[in-house]
Amino acid sequence: MAYAAGVDVGSTQTKAVIIDENRKIVSTALIDTGANVIQAAEHAFDNALKESKIRDVEVEYVIGTGYGRYRVTFGNDQITEISCHGRGAVHMFPRTKTVLDMGGQDTKAIRVTDSGEIADFCMNDKCAAGTGRFLGAAAAALDIPLNDLGTTALKYNKPVRISTTCTVFAESEVLSWLGKGKKIEDILWGVHQSIAARSAGLLRRVGIEDEITFTGGVTRNIAMVQALEQKIDKKLNVSEESHYIGALGAALFALDHIIASRHPHNSVEASS
Ligand SMILES: Nc1ncnc2c1ncn2[C@@H]1O[C@H](COP(=O)(O)OP(=O)(O)OP(=O)(O)O)[C@@H](O)[C@H]1O
Ligand SMILES: [Mg+2]
Repeated sequence: MAYAAGVDVGSTQTKAVIIDENRKIVSTALIDTGANVIQAAEHAFDNALKESKIRDVEVEYVIGTGYGRYRVTFGNDQITEISCHGRGAVHMFPRTKTVLDMGGQDTKAIRVTDSGEIADFCMNDKCAAGTGRFLGAAAAALDIPLNDLGTTALKYNKPVRISTTCTVFAESEVLSWLGKGKKIEDILWGVHQSIAARSAGLLRRVGIEDEITFTGGVTRNIAMVQALEQKIDKKLNVSEESHYIGALGAALFALDHIIASRHPHNSVEASS
């Protein structure tokens, strides 16, 4: 059995996925990227190997993706995260037409073709307003652990309207609402609504077509899923493994390479 791997080195977290020849996920690993990006990629891959008990020589091809993809020094190739999120999303949810990837620093809306190729995409400017970082800043200001963010926000009763769109000012706005006696859950839901509105704007720019698959670390936040669904009035595809979709897409491209190199006459990819 041959194995393929994808390592998605994001600005915030690094994800590794190992798949087998049947395109089944055999193991995953997730760590914070931190300051040493090369080491983050190595550790994530090592952790995935350890979890699966697969030796690294059994992994025939590794593709790096994400902002630190060129730091996957043990990788064989790199592919952009837009392509990898598109590929991974269509694999996990085959009827996907639209992908929303909400990570630590960027939010990207992607439209894919039936075969999973990228038809169009757009992303937030050099600003973390509609991303995990904005949520993280609000959570830190309110002293709420990231894991409890979603469940806390969903206790809202009278949502607060958040006016700032800047991560730098999010903390002070959140604190000022707290000072005015607003409840934490009402402030937090307002933060989620504000991010959902920005993301809906991005989605509209590429066109919102069913089915919509949500990817990236913010998929772990149940309140963000609900806020987005309310804003666009559609259901989103989300699974336990949605945080790994970019790394999964990279692993699938790696497996394509392994298969193509075995049948060089049948594939155009083998010559590239
Ligand atoms: N358990 C959790 N609950 C809520 N949010 C979470 C959880 N785990 C991660 N996140 C959110 O996911 C974000 C990281 O997501 P992801 O790993 O997709 O980002 P990234 O790929 O590093 O960033 P980018 O794609 O922008 O470079 C964090 O900023 C955090 O807001
Ligand atoms: Mg990412």
